[in-house]
Amino acid sequence: MKGIILAGGKGTRLYPITKSTSKQLLPIYDKPMIYYSLSTLLLADIKEILIICMPRDLEAYQNVLGDGSRFGIRIEYALQEEARGLADAFLIGEKFIGKDSVCLALGDNIFYGNGMTGILAEAKSMLKGAVIFGYRVADPREYGVVEFDKNHHAISLEEKPQNPKSDYAIPGLYFYNNDVVEIAKQVKPSARGELEITTVNNMYLERDQLDVSILPRGIAWLDTGNPKNLLEASMFIQTIQARQNQYVGCPEEVAYRRGFITADKLKKIGEELQKTDYGKYLISIATEKKQ
Ligand code: DAU
Repeated sequence: MKGIILAGGKGTRLYPITKSTSKQLLPIYDKPMIYYSLSTLLLADIKEILIICMPRDLEAYQNVLGDGSRFGIRIEYALQEEARGLADAFLIGEKFIGKDSVCLALGDNIFYGNGMTGILAEAKSMLKGAVIFGYRVADPREYGVVEFDKNHHAISLEEKPQNPKSDYAIPGLYFYNNDVVEIAKQVKPSARGELEITTVNNMYLERDQLDVSILPRGIAWLDTGNPKNLLEASMFIQTIQARQNQYVGCPEEVAYRRGFITADKLKKIGEELQKTDYGKYLISIATEKKQ
């Protein structure tokens, strides 16, 4: 399975912060936002990843993530000139995807919680057509919304509905079989001029090939849509990390625990950053006794 991280868009809701930098490079407490979605893909055991960004930001992403060898994976880059919509990822990524299945992660979505690795593994193993998630939120109007029948089968999907049919928002993490490339080619721009991911998901629903997995309440799905959300997400991560001395969204750690890089390599990366708590943490992981 291949992975795509969508890290384009103008980030206009965060102006003036994002006037000269990409939203997904902003810090969430102690690391760039994209580290969190990268960690999610690594947790899903995905080792070939395409980062899609605006031309302005390409060099910055390459400086931050390189060719992926730091994480024992392969990272490629592709450009999106205009924010044409989330489904554009499959048109831009067609060659990269090749004949594989693919997981799309939005670079501004953060997941954290007990059981996430198992949830990702299950999504991969149950994949026939598409697997997406449902997450209960207080106000779903800003999101894609899924409606269920009494057997928890999805019966409708709507993008940013004024009157949502349920409290279940669809987070920005989607698993698809290879058909998604052909399906994305059939998507027409919506009223707001975008190739909507919700249209792609609706096409799978019509084919009876859409599974919606409900994320349990023990999983946190954090929003980074406005300055207040950004601060709250940072405070959440800081609280968890300080309390547990376990980092959230640390791709080097995930890579090590998944066996993509050795303890020696992790230690070397930590030593390069040893003036920081982040570096010290990596060294402590690399030198800890296996429990
Ligand atoms: O966060 C989950 C929600 O993401 C879903 O519930 C919605 O169904 C889905 O449409 C999307 O809604 P948003 O309004 O949050 O999408 P937004 O335009 O903010 O884009 C999400 C991320 O993808 C953002 O980091 C920018 C990036 N992006 C967006 C577009 C439209 C791109 O890289 N390229 C694009 O063309």
